[in-house]
Amino acid sequence: MKSFLTIHDCTTDQLQELLTLSGDLKKLYKNGGRDLCLSGKVLAMLFEKTSLRTRVSFQVAMYDLGGMAMYMKPEDIGVIGQREPARDMARVFARYVDGIMARTFAHETLIELDRWADVPVINALSDWSHPCQAMADMMTIQEHFGRLEGLKLAYVGDGNNVARSLAFACAKFDMKYVVAAPPGYELDAETLEAANRICPNCAEQTREPAAAVAGADVIYTDTWVSMGQEDEKAKRVADFAGFAVDEHLIQHAPRAKVMHCLPAYRGYEISDSIAESPNSIIFDQAENRLHFQRGLLKKLISTVQAGK
Ligand code: CP
Ligand code: NVA
Repeated sequence: MKSFLTIHDCTTDQLQELLTLSGDLKKLYKNGGRDLCLSGKVLAMLFEKTSLRTRVSFQVAMYDLGGMAMYMKPEDIGVIGQREPARDMARVFARYVDGIMARTFAHETLIELDRWADVPVINALSDWSHPCQAMADMMTIQEHFGRLEGLKLAYVGDGNNVARSLAFACAKFDMKYVVAAPPGYELDAETLEAANRICPNCAEQTREPAAAVAGADVIYTDTWVSMGQEDEKAKRVADFAGFAVDEHLIQHAPRAKVMHCLPAYRGYEISDSIAESPNSIIFDQAENRLHFQRGLLKKLISTVQAGK
């Protein structure tokens, strides 16, 4: 496993290994221990878009493991490939640092960086997927339920990058996955078919949020307006009417845990009272971004022999 670009590309064994490693490191750090396996290692963090959780959790994870991280903000790098080709950037970075993580608009940018860099490349979110988020989510669900297999996750909202990574994660861990999205915002058929090839009859889609959440163990939502879609906000808010995770919807699955990758726009995709309710595990998810990232960085970077 050289890089981490999509969940779909990993085997269930590899993903399980990452969850186990992350869980072990979480216990170690909670008990005051330290694992300085990345001593002397440097991670370059390239951001075409803004971030709180991803940026801070990766930076802290590198520090915790004895290494350091360099943050390049959107104003510094703009869109990767505009000032110089991604393939040139990748080869230059690989001579300075031991790993590259990047948050991009186009997923192809990550593929190009990975193709040309001799060091690991980590997807910190692209328009197509957000695998680190979905893996931290699997870790959170496993902690709350004691297992993953056989659980049902209902995703209500936009069939976006987060929805896609969750589809692959659920399929890899034998979970039922139901998406409820309004017309025009569905999760693409290719993703659903790919998920069902991994886990037959596990993934489905509906236009009825109430039907999706019935019998769900977990209800998940994300913003209706992802980064880069700000100009579409008014239309999207109108089109997503009836797709909020609120008191009305929760009545169809009153015991379900509620998840949101954050940032949450209360009063839109989730109501304030549901985000703050005892069912909500959104801050456990946010915390597990740090724990999962420690495991991922240890796995990918501790053995790298960089060309520097
Ligand atoms: N969930 C998540 O990726 O948050 P940030 O955009 O703040 O990194
Ligand atoms: N779908 C959102 C996720 C933010 C973490 C976006 O891409 O902006």
